[in-house]
Amino acid sequence: MREGAPTLLPRNFVWGVSTSSYQIEGATQVDGRGPSVWDGYCRVPGRIANGDTGDVACDHYHRYAEDIALMRDLGVGAYRFSIAWPRVLPAGRGVANEAGLAFYDRLIDKLLATGIEPWLCLYHWDLPQSLQDRGGWLNRDIAGWFADYAKLVAERFGDRVRRFATFNEPSVFTLFGYGFAWHPPGTTDPAGLHQAIHNVNLAHGAGVDVLRASVPAASIGAIHNMQPSRPVARTSADEAAATLLDEYWNKAFPEAQILGHYPPALARAIEPYVQAGDMERICRKPDWFGVNHYSPVYAAADANAPLGFAWADAPVGVPRSPIGWQLDPAAFRDTLIDVDRRYRLPIYVLENGAGAVEEPNATGDVVDPERVDYLATYTGALREAVAAGADVRGYFVWSLLDNFEWGAGYANRFGLVYVDYPTQRRIPKASARWYAKLIRAEKVARTAR
Ligand code: FCB
Repeated sequence: MREGAPTLLPRNFVWGVSTSSYQIEGATQVDGRGPSVWDGYCRVPGRIANGDTGDVACDHYHRYAEDIALMRDLGVGAYRFSIAWPRVLPAGRGVANEAGLAFYDRLIDKLLATGIEPWLCLYHWDLPQSLQDRGGWLNRDIAGWFADYAKLVAERFGDRVRRFATFNEPSVFTLFGYGFAWHPPGTTDPAGLHQAIHNVNLAHGAGVDVLRASVPAASIGAIHNMQPSRPVARTSADEAAATLLDEYWNKAFPEAQILGHYPPALARAIEPYVQAGDMERICRKPDWFGVNHYSPVYAAADANAPLGFAWADAPVGVPRSPIGWQLDPAAFRDTLIDVDRRYRLPIYVLENGAGAVEEPNATGDVVDPERVDYLATYTGALREAVAAGADVRGYFVWSLLDNFEWGAGYANRFGLVYVDYPTQRRIPKASARWYAKLIRAEKVARTAR
C-alpha cells in the first residue's frame, strides 16, 4: 500500500443508504394500510417526544421518486428499505392489499431503473396491530404468520429483488419492548422477553426457508445491532450486568441463528419455551451478516430492575455526538473484526451514522461538520477492519433522510438530507456532498486498479 493511501476496499464494495417504512413513509391511513403497533404506541401520552407520530413522517409514500433522485445524486449503488407488513397485509395475515403491494412495485421498479439495487428488509418493527391483539411476539404461531408474509413478499418481488433481510435489530425491539418498556408493547416482563426472543428466532428460520424456496437466487441475511457491552464501573456486579446485556444485545439472535444455540444465561431462561426440533428450525446459515453500529452500550447492576440490570449512560467525559451518543470508532473496528472471526460470513454494515439537532442556516444550507467527521472516522475504522482481514463488503449510511426517530420523534435528525417537515422540502446537507464525493473517489480508485 502506498503511504497515506486509504486501504483498498473489495472490488464490489457496496455504498448505500438505509431507511425504514414507519420512519419515512407516512400515509398510514392511505390505500388500505392497516394499523401497526407503532401507530397506537405513538398515541400513548408521554411515550414519544413532543407527541410525534409517523402519520406523515417524510411522506415518502408519495415522494419516493424525488427520494430516489436524491439517492442517484449521492451515487449510491444500493438502498435498504423495509416493507410495512400492515401495508401489504392489513390484518397481518389473510387477504393481501393490492394497493400496498403496488407501492413497493413502483418503488422497486424506479430504483432498478435508476441503477440502484433494492435491499429489502421484511421487518423493521411495524408489526400489524391485529397480530399484536393475538399476542404478537408472545404467540408461537407468529412464526407461521411471518412465513406467510415472507412468502407473499418473495413471490411478488422476488423477480426483481435478490437481497432480503428477515429482521432489523431483533435485540432492540425485544429488549426495548419487553424488558425496558421503551417500545411497543411497552412492558417489563422478563418471561415475555424470553418467549419473544425465541419466537422471533423461529420466525427468522421459517422466513429463511420460505425465501429460499420462493427465490432460488436470493441472498439472505439478518441485521443485528452489534456494539460492545461495557460495565459502567469496574465492579464485579457491573461486569456481570454487562455480560448479561451482551447476551441480550449481541448474542440472543446471531448465536441461535448461525451457531444453533443460545448463550449460557439466556439458554437457561429460554429453555421453558424451546420445543423439540426448534434449534434446528432456527439455525440457518445466512449468506451474509448485517451489522448496525453506532456506539458502545453500558450496563449497571440493579437488583430492583426486572432483568437485574439497568441500561446506563456512557461514563462522564467520553467524546459524544451532538445527541449525546458516545463516539468510539475503535469500537466499530473491533466489532467488525469480532463479527468476522466469530461468524465467518461476508459482512455488510447496514446502518451507521450520526444524530443531531439541526436547522438550515441563514442561506438555507444545512452544514453538519460533526456528521462529516463521524462518517469520515467511522469509514476509516471500517478500512482498518478490512486491513486486519475482516470480510466487509458494504457500508450503508443511516439515513438518507431525517425521519421519525422512534422515542425521540422528529427531534433527532440522522439524514444526509434535511427534511423541512412543514413543507416536506428536502435539502441535501454538507454530509450528502461529502458522501457523494467519497463514492466518486472510490469508483475512480476501483477503475484505476
Ligand atoms: C437503529 C434503528 C434505526 C434508527 C437508528 C438511529 O437502532 O434500526 O431505525 O432509529 O437506530
